[in-house]
Amino acid sequence: MPRVKAAAIAAMIVVLALTTWFTSPRAVALHNVLHHLNFLPFMMAGMLFGWRGAVKALLFGILMQAPIIARHWARWPMDAQDQLLELTIFGSAGIIAGLLADRERVQRLRVESTKHELEDVYTELRENVEKMKKTERLSAAGQLAASLAHEIRNPLASISGAAGILKRGNASPDNKQECLGILEKESQRLNKLLTNFLDFARPRLPRFQRVDPRALVQSVTVLARHAAMRQQVAIIDDLSQQLPTVYCDAEQMKQVLLNIVLNAIQATQEGGNVVVKALVEGTDLWIEVRDEGCGMSSEELDRMFEPFFTTKESGTGLGLAVAANIVEQHGGVLRASNNPDKGMTFRLELPLERAQKMAGAL
Ligand SMILES: Nc1ncnc2c1ncn2[C@@H]1O[C@H](COP(=O)(O)OP(=O)(O)O)[C@@H](O)[C@H]1O
Ligand SMILES: [Mg+2]
Repeated sequence: MPRVKAAAIAAMIVVLALTTWFTSPRAVALHNVLHHLNFLPFMMAGMLFGWRGAVKALLFGILMQAPIIARHWARWPMDAQDQLLELTIFGSAGIIAGLLADRERVQRLRVESTKHELEDVYTELRENVEKMKKTERLSAAGQLAASLAHEIRNPLASISGAAGILKRGNASPDNKQECLGILEKESQRLNKLLTNFLDFARPRLPRFQRVDPRALVQSVTVLARHAAMRQQVAIIDDLSQQLPTVYCDAEQMKQVLLNIVLNAIQATQEGGNVVVKALVEGTDLWIEVRDEGCGMSSEELDRMFEPFFTTKESGTGLGLAVAANIVEQHGGVLRASNNPDKGMTFRLELPLERAQKMAGAL
């Protein structure tokens, strides 16, 4: 491409020289125009090829115009000198344009190299962040394994103690019953722990589908009613608002809500209420679970999503960790705050828009 441009400039110089040569000397006006047109190739050479290009174009122009100037010299020496002077001035203008173009080119190159450097730094940074995330995940996995070992050790100690008593064979019938009870309870506890842990450690991807939030909430309150009755707590669902269907994994959302509702029931004293309310807020679907329990201290609020964080004797501390994982996979948020009067409100916020996009992408 630069060759074509150089050839075009050279051709322009040659054509101008030839036309001038063959134009009658009496056509003064035409000569004047042709002469001034030499400005163009010099400028173009400067702009396209820098000051060196302009010098070359000027020398070539003078060379091509030399016979014309020489022919002129004999009759109108002043004119010929003028022509030479003007050619030189045109050429100088081209050279100045070339210098400016060179400077701009250098600056552009500098900007480009800075851009490349920045891109390199950015890539490196991203790789570092990925690496950090990976090590963080690994250390989280390590911590998790350590806590799991700790959680398993307690029931295992009870089980082996009870088994030891039974093995010796000298226990009273009452004692035997108690030992069998311990075996059953602790193995159930281990089973629950393991199931929850697997949910946490190997979360499956959500299978998005259209879900009616009303049906979702009702199916959870029906499931939780038994636990609520045992605790003598009333579950009330407040579904007065018109609700659009939402794209989510119904099973996973039920699990999330059930975890939150069971926590609320467990926290609430006899005779208290747990209210589950669904509403649309902006582009989000909010499901709020409000209890009348003891609320949470600031330390508990900080740690509640940590796996294995529990304040209950037979808790696994995985309910909220699993719930937060699932909600995150849905592009939503799970918030919790103490009520001004009594108890807690957990709020599940599912973005309608983004959830729809995610569903489309899957
Ligand atoms: N509604 C609530 N009111 C008060 N404390 C709560 C509530 N929900 C959760 N918590 C606290 O958060 C802890 C973690 O909850 P979770 O992860 O479900 O585990 P678990 O229920 O097995 O203890 C609970 O042990 C409890 O201390
Ligand atoms: Mg729980």
